[in-house]
Amino acid sequence: MKDIIYVGVNDYDIELFEGQYPVDHGMSYNSYLINDEKIAVMDSVDKGFSDKWLQNVEKALAGKKPDYLVISHMEPDHSGSIVEFTKKYPNATLVSTDKAFKFLVQFYGDVKNNKVVVKEGETLSLGKHTLKFIMAPMVHWPEVMFTYDEYEKVLFSADGFGKFGTLDYDDPEGWACEARRYYFGIVGKYGNQVQAVLKKLQGVEVKAICPLHGPVLDDNLSYYLGLYDTWSKYEAESKGVFIPVASVYGNTMDAAEKLKEMLEKKGIKAVVCDLNRDSMTEAFEDAFRYDRIVFASVTYNGTIFPSMNTFIEGLVERGYQNKKVGIIENGTWAPMAGKVILEKLSKLKNIEILEPTVKLTSRLDEVSLKQLEDLANNLE
Ligand code: FEO
Repeated sequence: MKDIIYVGVNDYDIELFEGQYPVDHGMSYNSYLINDEKIAVMDSVDKGFSDKWLQNVEKALAGKKPDYLVISHMEPDHSGSIVEFTKKYPNATLVSTDKAFKFLVQFYGDVKNNKVVVKEGETLSLGKHTLKFIMAPMVHWPEVMFTYDEYEKVLFSADGFGKFGTLDYDDPEGWACEARRYYFGIVGKYGNQVQAVLKKLQGVEVKAICPLHGPVLDDNLSYYLGLYDTWSKYEAESKGVFIPVASVYGNTMDAAEKLKEMLEKKGIKAVVCDLNRDSMTEAFEDAFRYDRIVFASVTYNGTIFPSMNTFIEGLVERGYQNKKVGIIENGTWAPMAGKVILEKLSKLKNIEILEPTVKLTSRLDEVSLKQLEDLANNLE
């Protein structure tokens, strides 16, 4: 990218993104400056980083003044420094959607700078660079827009193609792992809306994608676009069985581990997750990633254990669908977990329930072991 300068920041101190996603390797809030006859800054950053961001902008400006601030998304991790920007650059024009300007007032009150409202397909010329605006409503807020730089063929994709982690964190698991957790955690409910914007991009030559979090993507773009297509169609990315477990004394977990062993003997990948101790956000990611899932829960207060309840509610919220599903329930005197899980899953599309439901009446015994074997066979 010749005229596009990165002016974003890394947040090394954040522990929970959006108050619920653990980010052991921090987060980046990206912002870019397009240097042309007219200068556009693309989005601001979280308010905790206003000073650092404005320093980055000033350095990139090299003595000039910005003409525009393009606002893709009003969530405060990106809009939090807009007011500081307008104080420093009162002559810069803000460019965004009608809805974004409404949200701007809701969050920050009246902002005096000139404002230009843009709509689908409208353009803004900076000189050589022409910016074309592509509306991306509900990816994952209603005011969101993407911007396509027709000159350098760069797509500014708001939260789309975002990833957890600071930019200097060299993730040994590559881009997809934390981008997938980000997608299914934050954007996943809005697969249809992601599909809609991907369709608008069909036939558009994209040489680089500049998201608001995570690295600029400038090679092998079909890989990233392909993953977003798979994820947003709710198609499984990988073959395997994900086994989320809510166990109290370890007996339900023993059954889950036994199932994993049986599946692995058949050459099937199986991943067990302890919903009481492992990250719930990783669990959402794996639930969407694999094509099969087995819910294993103890009965508690006549229903399912709280962690399993939270997990399934999270799947329902995100439009979970297109899976083969097995169930392991445990209950010493009145097992109810299987019935409750089935009721909750009945709200979802294209869920195939596999027989049998494995019934533990405290721990694995001869009868439940046979049921587990039958379930493992049906998961093949
Ligand atoms: Fe990165 Fe939706 O804010």
